[in-house]
Amino acid sequence: MHVWDTLLDRSVIAGYSRLGYALRAAGRSDDDPRPGALAGRTVAVTGATSGIGAAIAEGVAALGAHVIVVGRDGERAQRVAAGLVERFPDARVSVELGDVSDAEQVRDLAARLDRRDVDALVHNAGVMPPERTDSADGHELSLATHVLGPIALTELLLPALRRSPDARVVFMSSGGMYTAPLPVDDLDYRDGQYRGARAYARSKRIQTALVPLLADRWAAAGVMVAGMHPGWVDTPGVSGSLPRFATLAGPLLRGPAEGADTAVWLLGTEPAPPTGGFWHDRRRRPEHYLRRTRFSEAERRAVGERIARIVDDEYR
Ligand SMILES: NC(=O)c1ccc[n+]([C@@H]2O[C@H](COP(=O)([O-])OP(=O)(O)OC[C@H]3O[C@@H](n4cnc5c(N)ncnc54)[C@H](OP(=O)(O)O)[C@@H]3O)[C@@H](O)[C@H]2O)c1
Repeated sequence: MHVWDTLLDRSVIAGYSRLGYALRAAGRSDDDPRPGALAGRTVAVTGATSGIGAAIAEGVAALGAHVIVVGRDGERAQRVAAGLVERFPDARVSVELGDVSDAEQVRDLAARLDRRDVDALVHNAGVMPPERTDSADGHELSLATHVLGPIALTELLLPALRRSPDARVVFMSSGGMYTAPLPVDDLDYRDGQYRGARAYARSKRIQTALVPLLADRWAAAGVMVAGMHPGWVDTPGVSGSLPRFATLAGPLLRGPAEGADTAVWLLGTEPAPPTGGFWHDRRRRPEHYLRRTRFSEAERRAVGERIARIVDDEYR
């Protein structure tokens, strides 16, 4: 299975599609988290109002977690929460609102989540800006959404995570990051012609590159950190941002629950997976496929220090 799994991964089209999910899922039912694995635990999921995030919320509710649906639109968030309660009448479901690209809202959201004793965070909110857009604080929007907000939110929640006996944090990246080098000297994508898909891949690359550093940094608080990508998933995000890809790949795209599977597994499997890894379909995956995207450890650290400075200066 291991060799086939690796071949699927390298083939991209087969591995990322619903075919790859089906082939891998066929032989692993004994690897599912046990029923009730998340009972008594509180899991906050950002971007839970749509697509993969809504499916993650459903997956962790099915395992008994108290789910916090984090969204920026109250009506949409309440609708997802009501759907969860209808599906799992015994589930405890809450809603918290906040835009994760906005420093002030991240601070406010963190204060509310802290009071709820969060055990786990899934940084799933994602965006592919159609044109250059700056966040409320003047950062390129995908950097703010995928990197700055999630890291700041976790930093601000360390007291709560430290109180948890089994704290876990998952960053939802993208296979698109495999195409992007680490933009060491241009985190905010100021140089060159802006393209939304490029900005997306660059910010997801930064996010993934930082996971091992964040794992070291948060180890003292007892936090397991994982990056992952979901494959190609049929969601409003994909049909809205990549309509041509969505049409062409349509029959091959995974369903949202298939895209959510690894996140739910990372949260519910026991014991916790090793910290600092990058995952897809419940297995650790490489950080690079292409030689041109490789970077040195010094470059990884330089980016980590720059991001830490922004978070310290602007989000605390
Ligand atoms: N679908 C795929 O094939 C695929 C592949 C690789 C990676 N991913 C990643 O998977 C994650 C989910 O994607 P999806 O396909 O499910 O997309 P989606 O349907 O567009 O959902 C994105 C979610 O993120 C929320 N969001 C966006 N910006 C936000 C912000 N600033 N603050 C708070 N919430 C925000 C959206 O909230 P609203 O409801 O308010 O808009 C929505 O709930 C993303 O991180 C994406 O990059 C997806």
